[in-house]
Amino acid sequence: MDNQLKRPNAMDAYWMPFTANRQFKQSPRMVASAEGMYYTTTDGRKVMDGTAGLWCVNAGHAAPRITEAVQKQVTELDYAPAFQMGHPKAFELAARLAELAPGDLNHVFFTNSGSESVETALKIALAYHKAKGEQGRTRLIGREKGYHGVNFGGISVGGIVNNRRHFGSLLTGVDHLRHTHDPARNGFTKGQPEHGAELAEDLVRLIELHGAETIAAVIVEPMAGSAGVILPPKGYLQRLREITREHGILLIFDEVITAYGRLGRAFGADYYGVEPDMITTAKGLTNGVIPMGAVMISSAIHDAFMTGPEHMIELFHGYTYSGNPVACAAALAALDTYREEELFERAAALEDYWSDALFSLQGMPHVKDIRCSGLVGAVELEPVAGVPTKRAFDTYLRAWDKGAHLRTTGDIIAMSPPLIIEKTEIDELIGILAESLVA
Ligand SMILES: Cc1ncc(COP(=O)(O)O)c(C=O)c1O
Repeated sequence: MDNQLKRPNAMDAYWMPFTANRQFKQSPRMVASAEGMYYTTTDGRKVMDGTAGLWCVNAGHAAPRITEAVQKQVTELDYAPAFQMGHPKAFELAARLAELAPGDLNHVFFTNSGSESVETALKIALAYHKAKGEQGRTRLIGREKGYHGVNFGGISVGGIVNNRRHFGSLLTGVDHLRHTHDPARNGFTKGQPEHGAELAEDLVRLIELHGAETIAAVIVEPMAGSAGVILPPKGYLQRLREITREHGILLIFDEVITAYGRLGRAFGADYYGVEPDMITTAKGLTNGVIPMGAVMISSAIHDAFMTGPEHMIELFHGYTYSGNPVACAAALAALDTYREEELFERAAALEDYWSDALFSLQGMPHVKDIRCSGLVGAVELEPVAGVPTKRAFDTYLRAWDKGAHLRTTGDIIAMSPPLIIEKTEIDELIGILAESLVA
């Protein structure tokens, strides 16, 4: 097909991910550039990034250190295989992350996305028990409404129905805890809700049902982001930790959203004061600039693999782009930026202002619940009768026209601005949302 024929259909070839493709292509929202808190659209409008891209651009767009580091690295060492050879930045980055990670999470496995970090952690959990001689521990426990990416392991332990139901029978040997979303008891709570710690006892029930000796790991997001910002009830994560420890079950925190400052601390594990056995991360690791993920792994798990003949590969797992030099350079520069600009501390300092701004929407038309923590916020709307998701999507479209990019999940508006946001910009963002709530 020549270009003449292609031109009228120029938008047709790209099948966009997690997007209403037909709606988008009728009325595209296209950005040409971005800097700091703002995108510039292809027609020259400024749109505030109310979601840090997809919860990843924590230092804001075009952060200079990261841009320079990527430009330099790509000319110095563009690529090197990670199997049976290495380059210094991968080791430096792993050491920096191990230092940043809580407790004895002293080892790091590199991936290219949150989904791959999840698959990696699940596989390591299974192989760990096998390495220790507990071959029977093959069962994985997730949670309803959990989001762990889109690969088969992740959707199997995940609990978002639309992400699962079209894709066959998924992994076997998976069970789920109930979710902790309880607006009737916890509606309009700032921070962690009071009610629901008892839901951690679901794990005891599953242990009684399946036998602890069949369970390898429990994976949860410390704060569930994609399902619409569901915060852990007070005491819930602590109780999960107690039960998993008592029964030799690994606890994995999926921190693809919460790691790297989103809650005002390096990790959600720090924020909630609970130390898991593995943490999955991605997104903010490179400020979203280059795809990269990292799994933080405890010494006890890592060391269980370091047995047998030394010339043998200890873990049959890895990716062509694990520890890619350009991604490592971006991540090191992102960590420098977070530290030098004290962005985690900044998020913590803004938490109250942010939650007050969000709660100013209480009582506005259709607002059913508001939830927040760190620099994350969600406004749940009353659905239009018989047309779920429409109210939030229409609100999102109005906000886009007024100059802010938000995110919707069901009838929930979620926000997670870059950690560089100023108080005046918080006012602007929430102001646009307030105006957009009314048609
Ligand atoms: C908790 C969690 N896990 C995994 C993922 C998947 O990450 P990715 O889209 O990079 O594969 C996400 C993405 O939003 C996430 O929020």
